[in-house]
Amino acid sequence: MRLKDCHNIDDFRMLAKQRLPWPVFDYIDGAADDELTKARNTSAYADCDLIPNVLAGVADIDTSVTILGRKSALPLILSPTALQRVFHWQGERAVARAAEKFGLWFGISSLATVSIEEVGAMVSTPKMFQFYYHKDRGLNRSMIERCQAAKFDAIALTVDTIVSGKRERCARSGFTSPPRFTLSSALSYAIKPRWALDYVFREKFALPNLDTHVREGTGEAVSIAGYFNTMLDQSLDWTMARQLREDWGGTFCLKGVMSVADAKRAVEIGADAIMISNHGGRQLDGSRAPFDQLPEIVDAVGGQIEIICDGGVRRGSHVLKALAAGANCASGGRLYLYALAAAGQQGVERAISLLKDEIERGMKLAGVKSVAELNRERLRWR
Ligand code: FNR
Ligand code: LAC
Repeated sequence: MRLKDCHNIDDFRMLAKQRLPWPVFDYIDGAADDELTKARNTSAYADCDLIPNVLAGVADIDTSVTILGRKSALPLILSPTALQRVFHWQGERAVARAAEKFGLWFGISSLATVSIEEVGAMVSTPKMFQFYYHKDRGLNRSMIERCQAAKFDAIALTVDTIVSGKRERCARSGFTSPPRFTLSSALSYAIKPRWALDYVFREKFALPNLDTHVREGTGEAVSIAGYFNTMLDQSLDWTMARQLREDWGGTFCLKGVMSVADAKRAVEIGADAIMISNHGGRQLDGSRAPFDQLPEIVDAVGGQIEIICDGGVRRGSHVLKALAAGANCASGGRLYLYALAAAGQQGVERAISLLKDEIERGMKLAGVKSVAELNRERLRWR
């Protein structure tokens, strides 16, 4: 299988699986416990159908939206994800450049393998920094100040990761940051020599937004669960979230809100947006899917705060359904991560291009000229 054989996100997943050592593939692909929530995040979209209108004169359509105060060419954000250098040697740079090419918002994780400064200087596209609230207050301050200096467009505070989810695939493979070459995992790396050579001989792995303050994750190999459970502040609450928003002073988003009550609190603390998200099913297994939960949140706070429907998106039609249900836009991680792992920047560009085509084709077939025309009249739940 090669890049030109990839015609949808699942094809990229298969190619990524071919190219990656299994502990790395399982880190991306895996989720918590029985992975029920991860599966439901996507299958929720299949329980709801679009109703097209015809003869709508769709020669010219507009797929753009304004989200978090910036224009995006598509109603789709590339969600922040950790450790991209491990998936492909081009890492976050590939994703940033692909996002810029298509005029999209993208995010980098606190656990990104490039620095805030480099990303800030590299692309003109709107970018968000995903903030993990650490026990180390000096580290928290440093991340905020660096984002301010690098002129990031938004901070997204992740609120669904107060402790780590139980990721059994990672427990079995012993996946760590940085990857540790143990006797038992050595074979999985040895049989993917291209990945292994790129990993060993290209730029060294680092977590430059954290390693000014902590050794864990760079100087010292730790599991992601170990990192979350020891480094992040479990006392994080609404007062601290509000304070963080004030300290940052810019556009602020809460990533991982699922309940109506919390969506209302997000409005109260002055957040600009919420990402309805269960972290791609990697945290609380059994949690509801964002698309299932979207209508009640839209009914409660729509118009008062921007609503991003995060996770499970694998098709352009999923994006259209999220918008029709009332989201301001959709977002996703694996939809570009499989492609990054499969083929670096070229892969991410091809994945976005396929989704762009699917969104445009879907709008035309549904008789929709602009994203604003998508509303609940276009949807029926089965
Ligand atoms: C993530 N996600 C994530 N979220 C976050 O707030 N900080 C992070 O560092 C990461 N890292 C990360 C790594 C990997 C490999 C994955 C798959 C996901 C969650 C991510 O931002 C997003 O919420 C999910 O990816 C959405 O689900 P889908 O689109 O992958 O189905
Ligand atoms: C994850 C992180 C790092 O989901 O948020 O693995």
